[in-house]
Amino acid sequence: MALRAFRGEFLSLTCDPRDAGPDGERAIRYEADGLLVVEDGIVVARGHHADLSGRFAQVPTERLPGLVVPGFIDAHVHYPQMDSMAAHGEQLLDWLERHIFPAEMAFAERAHADALAQAFLTEMLRNGTTSALVFATVHEHSVDALFEAALARRMRVISGKVLMDEGPEGLRDSVASGRAGSEALLRRWRGRGRLGYALTPRFALTSSDAQLADAGAFLAEHPEVLLHTHLAENVHECAAVASRFPDAADYLDVYDRFGLVGPRSVFAHGIHLPDRSCARLHESGAGIAVCPSSNLFLGSGHFDFGQADRFGVKLGLGSDVGAGTTFSLLHTAGLAYQAALAREDRLSPFRALYLATLGSAQLLGIADKVGALEVGQEADFVVLDPAATPLLARRTQDAPLAQRLFALQVLGDDRAVARTYVLGGCAWERTA
Ligand code: GUN
Ligand code: ZN
Repeated sequence: MALRAFRGEFLSLTCDPRDAGPDGERAIRYEADGLLVVEDGIVVARGHHADLSGRFAQVPTERLPGLVVPGFIDAHVHYPQMDSMAAHGEQLLDWLERHIFPAEMAFAERAHADALAQAFLTEMLRNGTTSALVFATVHEHSVDALFEAALARRMRVISGKVLMDEGPEGLRDSVASGRAGSEALLRRWRGRGRLGYALTPRFALTSSDAQLADAGAFLAEHPEVLLHTHLAENVHECAAVASRFPDAADYLDVYDRFGLVGPRSVFAHGIHLPDRSCARLHESGAGIAVCPSSNLFLGSGHFDFGQADRFGVKLGLGSDVGAGTTFSLLHTAGLAYQAALAREDRLSPFRALYLATLGSAQLLGIADKVGALEVGQEADFVVLDPAATPLLARRTQDAPLAQRLFALQVLGDDRAVARTYVLGGCAWERTA
């Protein structure tokens, strides 16, 4: 296929700024006037326009208006909860009972799952998100609906059937049906498009010991599969876990005892963790999807970046819709800054962008494919408009890069996404 080139202002991260010296500057890759050359959806060259323009003079070139960053990667989101956002009144356990479980029961109907999957992926692209690790429901066909829709849009989506044999009536599987459903989905979807499978026990409180043990066995049998679950989100949840598993050293240890903690494990939240858990996360190579908007909405608390960084815990960023209040990982990056500051930690705008892109990619084991817009990676990127609103225009005019990026994170959201590209093709364009 013919080469295509894009000219514009490019920004990405090459590693976690926390590992790149005192100011993290070494982690920043930036071309004020850059050229990105794409062939068959893959980046084949990227650099300063002045350095590359001679070599690619014959290649049709599209100008990208605004600041171009890698497509956002949502490390934890629930597609069935899209229509349950902004449900008033409760913290986690009551919120699940009152709002979420009833909404997920509606997924018994395949047509409902299909409709939500389409709406969900459209919303992701509107917000500049091109890859995600996604919770479905307990119903096997809820994953088929999402995978079919993602395959058609050529998006990178990792998901799996939720395991919850001790969930509420009407939303329960069994050890055997959970295993059979996961195996059937893996057989059906393995190697197709940009899809991946994640074994998804909901959390420690909705699975029996037998189901958690079987999940550990499944994971050991399938080395390409991720483990995706919730960890230490809410104090009442943590108390219930401690009471059900009195022999476990801590919440993480519950999962560990069943073989669920390793380099392919993604834990959402991890707000209330003892140092021991952080040491174990680092040692095992497991990581956390930080979900600041959800944590604020459900009154769960603030993620402790200082503690995670002391132990070198791998981190990505998640919207956690429907507890999350926005699909925008740009805005969520701004909320991560505020969550960090609430515990007297500082998060630079570059580190926040890292979390929403390469950090999530590393957490999901897809950093060889996406997250940094490097040569050899898939050409998923977002064009951000620093003048998307009158206020943003004032705040970003003549501002240095760090200030423009920070203003976009704090004041911006889907309005600031001018275009979203998937595999080098424009998959979303703002019309107004
Ligand atoms: N813990 C168990 N299930 C859920 C869920 O659906 N959302 C959140 N935020 N936490 C959970
Ligand atoms: Zn969640």
